[in-house]
Amino acid sequence: MKNLFLIASFAVAVVVLAACSSKMSNTSVAYSKINPLETKVDSVLKLMTLEEKVGQLNQYNGFWEITGPTPKEGQAAKKYEDLKKGLVGSMLNVKGVKDVRALQKIAVEETRLGIPLLFGFDVIHGYKTISPIPLAEAASWDMAEIKKSAAMAAEEAASVGLNWTFAPMVDIARDARWGRVMEGSGEDPYLGSQIAVARIQGFQGEDLKARNTILACAKHFAGYAFAESGRDYNTVDIGESTLQNIVFPPFKASVEAGVRTFMNSFNELNGIPATGNKYLQRQILKGDWKFDGFVVSDWGSINEMIAHGYAKDNKQAAEIAINAGSDMDMESSAYIEHLADLVKEGKVKESDIDDAARRILKVKFELGLFDNPYLYCDENYEKETVGKKAFHDAVLEMAKKSIVLLKNEKELLPLKKSGQKFVLIGALADDKTSPLGSWRIAADDETAVSVLEGMQSYKGNQLSYVKGANVAEGRTQFVWETKINTTDKSGFPAAIAAAKGADVVVMVLGEHGLQSGEGRSRTDIGLPGVQQELLEEVYKVNPNIVLVLNNGRPLAIPWADDHVPAIVEAWQLGTQSGNAIAQVLYGDYNPSGKLPMTFPRNVGQVPIYYNYKNTGRPVMNEPESVFWSHYIDEKNTPLYPFGYGLSYTQFEYSDLELDQKSFSGDGSIEVSVNVKNTGKYAGKEVVQLYIRDIIASVTRPVKELKGFEMIELQPNETKKVRFIINKKTIEFYTAQSKWEAEEGDFNVFVGGSSVKTIDANFQYNN
Ligand code: NOJ
Repeated sequence: MKNLFLIASFAVAVVVLAACSSKMSNTSVAYSKINPLETKVDSVLKLMTLEEKVGQLNQYNGFWEITGPTPKEGQAAKKYEDLKKGLVGSMLNVKGVKDVRALQKIAVEETRLGIPLLFGFDVIHGYKTISPIPLAEAASWDMAEIKKSAAMAAEEAASVGLNWTFAPMVDIARDARWGRVMEGSGEDPYLGSQIAVARIQGFQGEDLKARNTILACAKHFAGYAFAESGRDYNTVDIGESTLQNIVFPPFKASVEAGVRTFMNSFNELNGIPATGNKYLQRQILKGDWKFDGFVVSDWGSINEMIAHGYAKDNKQAAEIAINAGSDMDMESSAYIEHLADLVKEGKVKESDIDDAARRILKVKFELGLFDNPYLYCDENYEKETVGKKAFHDAVLEMAKKSIVLLKNEKELLPLKKSGQKFVLIGALADDKTSPLGSWRIAADDETAVSVLEGMQSYKGNQLSYVKGANVAEGRTQFVWETKINTTDKSGFPAAIAAAKGADVVVMVLGEHGLQSGEGRSRTDIGLPGVQQELLEEVYKVNPNIVLVLNNGRPLAIPWADDHVPAIVEAWQLGTQSGNAIAQVLYGDYNPSGKLPMTFPRNVGQVPIYYNYKNTGRPVMNEPESVFWSHYIDEKNTPLYPFGYGLSYTQFEYSDLELDQKSFSGDGSIEVSVNVKNTGKYAGKEVVQLYIRDIIASVTRPVKELKGFEMIELQPNETKKVRFIINKKTIEFYTAQSKWEAEEGDFNVFVGGSSVKTIDANFQYNN
């Protein structure tokens, strides 16, 4: 190892030896002039040439040949040369201890200064052991379980040599056509902020130097989910109120939770690409929020400013991006090729390069890479850790908690455990790859437990399986031509025949796991292919259907809601999917999930979300004319609202009480409500609190989630749930362009979904 480590350690030893604790917490790193970490970073920076500093800002995609024959020509060879010259700060998409170690060895042992690399990877919902897609996890509303899931993913990823995940995606999304809704926490900024914090705490843990923790990355900053017409990468044009009140909160919460990295986004925001956006990165993120980690660009997004029509070439793109506060260049090669020249030409300040390099070096110190660059490189530990049983148990728990019961008439569910004849229909029922969902790059195909396997583990009934119809043609992860639809109905007769004599038909329908995710926007969000027809044909011969949905986004399924007696939202639940679904269907787990995103009746209603504005012509009960805000061919209301989800038991809300009718200044009100389990099963309920600010300097939504609590009740048991409302609860970004509480009248609503609530009023006086 090179002498740099000695120099860095020496500097620290001299300055504040006692403070140099290896237990340095990622969330409590306070920077000041005497901070030893700052001193360490400066001691390294002082040794670096301009080119080496720029090198720290350069991130390359992995080149696998490094552990085999040395790349001879082209891009890989250039990357390899740059790596040896110390002109690479980070790699992405390198996986496995062997490959990571090989590259780290070059960085540490062959470059002049021996600065270790960061290894980033999209650990979005697990590394090899896959947990439910993030939208599904969000449906659990269970912060402890979500944190655990992220911690488990971090442990598995760190064991293969990785030290950085490009997660969580904290984009608030209102448009189900956008394929990446599967990767986020849905439509609500309050829930989204809580989940962002849980995930960051899970990934980063208490100690970034521990070998089971990795860096988190809040992405995509900002506005990415507001792409016009739900088409990925499309233009984003939103006003300041939406940006501040809806888009920013989870990002701000991420900074407050100590997230160490941010990723900017592909989209333009109000005419300026996010990657070159000074307002976002310098003013808001690094200025107002005092973010002291670093910002990585999205893949090639610096170069994409040319296509946006914002930079004339890669060199100007580099100039714009660094000046706007993008610290690391992912795969544009814009920084490595042009930044040093731009400094020499006076177009970029060297102090800005220093600032970016300093941020990156600081994070490397925080990870402990300067103490031990091979911390994450232990092949035995890798073998013991990847896919271990505890991970499978954890993803099963998470999967069960992510399921949402949408409909259950005639108590069709839970299923009886014996004496029944069941038929399972649908290609997805027998699919061991689709449940892994999108964004699971390291997982192996065919490794999920299918619904068929899960159901087969219950032996008391007669169970047969018929495919009926495929979902799509082609299913390879990165094949662009993955067909959304199939027209083949040749399997219908067998499915219909099998359904005829069954007590219950369980149909597993929906999207293949690769029909959502990046670059997978849809204009039709119904059941793909011929599945809708299959459902209707089977229904004609046997209406006793339990529909199990697999999907990465809200679907528009009005026919199913009208006809099918039981509907279970099972998303893409990961490695243990089939076991989780079977346990819920058989009642060994009583479903407790609540939707984190509104389901429309019709794609034409999209974007549809619960926290909409009232308009000047709101819904009329008995309209006398057409002149109010509505459609002439569809209701305004959703099929299933935000916060909605049933249980096998029932809950009754009563006695909503406020301990006072008004508060002022820093005072508060306690809201309490009684929740009773009136059904016959023990069950969990997510009690939700919403408010409405009736008149404000900027119009406010008809409802805003401000609190929630999960409780568990035995049959007949009642619990009192309490919430506190204070100034923070009612603050928003006002017409004065700041976050503040305005005085006036408010409604408070409490219930088991955003629409089924009981309410009261209160007042706030300044
Ligand atoms: C592009 C995606 O937008 C981003 O989320 C991801 O982290 C990078 N590619 C790296 O794979």
